Order: sequence, then structure tokens, then C-alpha cells
Amino acid sequence: MSKYASWTHGKLPLPELLELKRRGQKLAMVTAYDFPSGRIADEAGVELVLVGDSAAMVVLGHDSTVPATMDELLMLTAAVTRGAKRPLVIADMPFGSFQVSDDEAVVNAVRFVKEAGADAVKLEGAGPTLSRVQAIVGAGVPVMGHVGLTPQSATMLGGFKAQGRTAAKAERLYADALALEAAGCFAIVLEAVPAAIAARVTEALQVPTIGIGAGAGCDGQVLVWHDLLGLYEGKAPRFVKRYADLADQAKRALEDYVADVRQGRFPEEQHTYAIPDEELEAFEGWLAAQHGVQADHQ
Ligand code: KIV
Repeated sequence: MSKYASWTHGKLPLPELLELKRRGQKLAMVTAYDFPSGRIADEAGVELVLVGDSAAMVVLGHDSTVPATMDELLMLTAAVTRGAKRPLVIADMPFGSFQVSDDEAVVNAVRFVKEAGADAVKLEGAGPTLSRVQAIVGAGVPVMGHVGLTPQSATMLGGFKAQGRTAAKAERLYADALALEAAGCFAIVLEAVPAAIAARVTEALQVPTIGIGAGAGCDGQVLVWHDLLGLYEGKAPRFVKRYADLADQAKRALEDYVADVRQGRFPEEQHTYAIPDEELEAFEGWLAAQHGVQADHQ
């Protein structure tokens, strides 16, 4: 029997996520930032692809997600949606794109759908974010919520550290997640939250939770592409599981290439284009005549 109730071909229908949660089927989400990563994620069978504002760090080299801009995220999202045809593609709304007003949040969310082909957007936080979620969902754009460690407000949270580790903070987090569901979110990311709290939140919600550093009790998991594949040099958080060491493989391949170029081992005949003998002969004749003309003029 298929894992899915209604997904046989084409784009994953959004309501299928609720059905998967109901059936206890886990969801796999990964970030992607360009056409090939979108295509590979699609071929690997993930249900959800997030064009995270983590791009600011892992792709653009900033030391936080805060500098990510609408223009950058729009460009990356458009590339991902050209590659990821079957999974739902969620664009992360960068810092500053939804904080000012509900109206501005709607305008920017709509841009992700119209200009970049996103299926949904993700917003960090609760509190003032709740009215943004209602406004965006009201405009017809599905919204994924994100609570716990919300990197855009890491400074206010006291750094990149686990959240909800006291009873009072866990209560706040639980209430925020429920409020985001009530505001219309179709799924909620729980980041760096104690596993026991994430499990309780997951039980309380109708919509799926997607955990990152939130334990196995969530309905799904998400990892950042560069962390999962070993492409990011910085210190990985404890919740990262590295499934490959592509940075090392890429470095070794490039070292081989450099050595081949320097030693004249690349390119070989198979990498070059030929010209028919008679054409080459005619060209050589023409070249010799050119040299003859030049010599006559000296
Ligand atoms: O930007 C991002 O990659 C994220 C995930 C870590 C959930 O928000």
C-alpha cells in the first residue's frame, strides 16, 4: 500500500500532510538553495523542500541569517522550484520582510508565489507574527510556522541555544504553537526544543510538526542541506547528523584536477574536438599563405 492517500503524481497535495500525520507517517524535509539541490531533493523523495534563510550563512557566507534579503531569497526560491517539481517548496520569509506590517507581509509572501513559484512561505515566531500568518493565509498563501530557536531573533533569545527548557518557557512555547495553528499554519517547525516538550506539542496539534533538534516525537524532520551533506565548515549543532562528507570529496576531486592540468594529463583526446583531415590541411595551407604574405610585407 502507498504511504500516501492521494499523492500519485505531480505536486504533493497540501491536505496530504494532515493525512500523513493522522496515519503516523513521518515527513522528510530538507533545505535547498538552487536548481540541482531542488532536483536531487525531489528525486530522493522528500515531501517538503525549504528554501531557508539559512542560505545567508551556508551559501552567502554571512555569520547569521539576518542579512538575507527578499531579492536573494526570491532568486534562490525560483531556482529551487525549477528543480523540485513534486515536493512542496516553502520559501523562508527573510528578516524585515514580514515584521513591519500585515500588508507588507502579504505583499512579500505573494511575491514568493508569483515570482518564484513557491507553494508556501515560512515565518519565524508567534506573538506579532500571528496576525501576519492570518493575513497571509487570508490572501491564499499557505504558511508554515517556526517556534523554539528562531535564528532571526537569536540575539534576543540569548544566542543559538535550545529553547523551552524551563516549565514556564515550555508553557509559552506550547501556547505559541497552538496559537500558530489557530492562526492558520499548515505545519510548524520546532527548532532546538527538548524532545519531551516537542512530543507534547506534536500530540496537541492537528497539523504536523517538523523538528530540527526537537527529537523523534515530531511528525517530520528537517536538516540543512550543507549540514546533512558535510558541506559546511563551521561547528555543527548537536542535532545535526552528517550523511556524507561532500566538502572533503569535492576538495580531493579539485586537487586531482589541478594536478592533472599541471602535469598535462587533462584534457585527453576524448575531451577534445577533431576536424576532418582535408579541412585541417586547407586551414594549414591558408595559414602558411598568411605567413608568406606577412614575410613579403617585411
Ligand atoms: O533557514 C532554515 O534553514 C530554517 C531551518 C533550519 C528550519 O529555518
